[in-house]
Amino acid sequence: MTWEELEAAAMNCQKCPLAKTRTNCVLGCGNRNTDLMFIGEAPGESEDLQGIPFVGRAGKLLDKYFEAVGIERDDIYIANILKCRPPQNRDPAPAEEEACIDYLRAQVKLIQPNIIVCLGRISGQRLMKPDLRITKEHGIWVKKAGVMMTTVYHPSYLLRPNPQAREQMLTDMKEIVRMREELRGGGSNG
Ligand code: URA
Repeated sequence: MTWEELEAAAMNCQKCPLAKTRTNCVLGCGNRNTDLMFIGEAPGESEDLQGIPFVGRAGKLLDKYFEAVGIERDDIYIANILKCRPPQNRDPAPAEEEACIDYLRAQVKLIQPNIIVCLGRISGQRLMKPDLRITKEHGIWVKKAGVMMTTVYHPSYLLRPNPQAREQMLTDMKEIVRMREELRGGGSNG
């Protein structure tokens, strides 16, 4: 599948009832030739309106972490498990994830990243480990089908006052940058 075919299929998708309530299908954004993908849960209100992932309050906080560790949005690719917004931002239903997951699979196949970062429990459980416990297992790396994968806190969780989780998020994000360097062959002492 090409990007053009994928875009056309997603924009016209009617595979689940979320198609009826969406403003925009939010496929993804960023660099399609990147080594580093971030995968969230589903579009919220701002994302649905703009057609771009992580542009609302959670996205603005995520941008602060990107800035803090030197990650540029146009140097990575950001997508979600679901491409359409669930009403009232409820959790994705299993049937919605099933209906939508092939779009994400196609994105990963086209991009072929070295690193996938799951943003939050829903994404981590879907992509890394069905029983993932985010508070215990954030920042842990697993290699799956040749791709290094980790899960970090979802930025909307960090919007609530939680200094400890915010600090852990910063540590995890720094580790992602370090892993990226390592996989590119640029060790810190080399
Ligand atoms: N939360 C997500 O998981 N994804 C978005 O795109 C926005 C908020």
